[in-house]
Amino acid sequence: MYMMDEAEIRNKISSLVRDFFELKKSKKFTFGKDLIQYSGDVKDENEIDASIQTLLDGRLAAGKQVESFENEFADYLGARHCVAVGSGTAADLISLNALQNEHLENPMRKGDEVLTCALNFATPMSSILFNGYKPALVDTTLGKYTMDVDDIEASITENTKAILAVHLFGNVCNLDKIMKIAKKHGLYVIEDCCDSAGSMYDGKMIGTFGDMGTFSFYPAHQMTTMEGGMISTNNENMNYLLRSLRMWGRALPCPYCGDDMGKSCKLRHNLNIGNIGRYDLAYLFINQGHNSKLVEVQGAFGREQLKKLPNFNEIRRDNFRETVKALRPYEDQLILPEAEKNSDPAWYSIPLTIRDGAGFNREDITNMLKEAKIEFRYLFTGNILDQPAFRNIEKRIHGDLTNANKTTTDSFFIGCYQGINPDMREYIIEKMVGFLEKHKN
Ligand SMILES: Cc1ncc(COP(=O)(O)O)c(C=O)c1O
Repeated sequence: MYMMDEAEIRNKISSLVRDFFELKKSKKFTFGKDLIQYSGDVKDENEIDASIQTLLDGRLAAGKQVESFENEFADYLGARHCVAVGSGTAADLISLNALQNEHLENPMRKGDEVLTCALNFATPMSSILFNGYKPALVDTTLGKYTMDVDDIEASITENTKAILAVHLFGNVCNLDKIMKIAKKHGLYVIEDCCDSAGSMYDGKMIGTFGDMGTFSFYPAHQMTTMEGGMISTNNENMNYLLRSLRMWGRALPCPYCGDDMGKSCKLRHNLNIGNIGRYDLAYLFINQGHNSKLVEVQGAFGREQLKKLPNFNEIRRDNFRETVKALRPYEDQLILPEAEKNSDPAWYSIPLTIRDGAGFNREDITNMLKEAKIEFRYLFTGNILDQPAFRNIEKRIHGDLTNANKTTTDSFFIGCYQGINPDMREYIIEKMVGFLEKHKN
């Protein structure tokens, strides 16, 4: 007979997990030898213990933890509904898919245009294409790296039916202009907030302005569920539709009793459904759907991360502010990042563009970073039309995409995430300033 009862075993596990993280905290960081990541998960015993305890609870697939995570994330955003999905990519794919659903009053059709930015991540664009829409591309603004709003209205045609506003690198698109234009022309707006959970515009969380907001919980982002995503919406019908689309297209919740077809649904086996007669509502498919759900462990993990998100984002803001302040004297060499007016970004990273005639090129400065063990990345796709997968797509382009082209060749970003402590930040600043001083004209 085992001597401990379940509660004692669970406590013992919790205690061992705590010990494990105490041990990790004592590990020394060596500058110049250990890599300062640009981003990554920051977790402790709380996430791991909650995950293990949830695994021990029994249910594996989406249940109470995922449901609570959705509700808590909706409260955090100030959105009416949040629907958890498998990734930010799934969030983009499904939200754009929802816009062509026959249950909508004004569904989009294949071939309709979706306006977005030429500087992007790959999967917002793939999501437009997989749904049969045609991308219409506007340029980005250097320094802001979001879509150039002055280009948007000029580029709308009678085929334009939606704007996919990507809040890239944590910065926020000019939502005031975008929402006004969308209203005037009757366009749907999806806000891609995958890089920017917690960024604010006009005192409100982004992801609450458009018809839907999409979020990613990949570890590089503001918070993580290992992999994972979320779609926010303030629209009741869209909420039902998204829940159905992420779960095989099932009639969810039960269209008759509003229940989730759990044990309490009295109608589940008792309804005559047209030509198929009495049928199990659990296998009644009202949409051609996807399968993109979180599992309980991700829900439990995400709930712990969400508690830390406000603090994580304050660290991001501090690191961003202090680093950019230190780089300010070198504005003749670098285009520094600039927050959209009226916004308070939870910066994903610190995007930088080398000015023409700076006296050095991207390889020079990133070689220095490599040597100093400071992680950097390029600005995702640069001009997405130069990427192999998107070179030959059917599209419409507004203008010559000069700025997006410049990001392809002359931009990079360094980190500001919650894993960068003040000593690391000072080290990054010292290396960057040393390099820029050396290359001053
Ligand atoms: C702007 C943007 N949208 C969508 C995604 C896709 O998110 P995920 O990696 O969760 O699929 C990313 C990924 O980093 C992104 O940066």
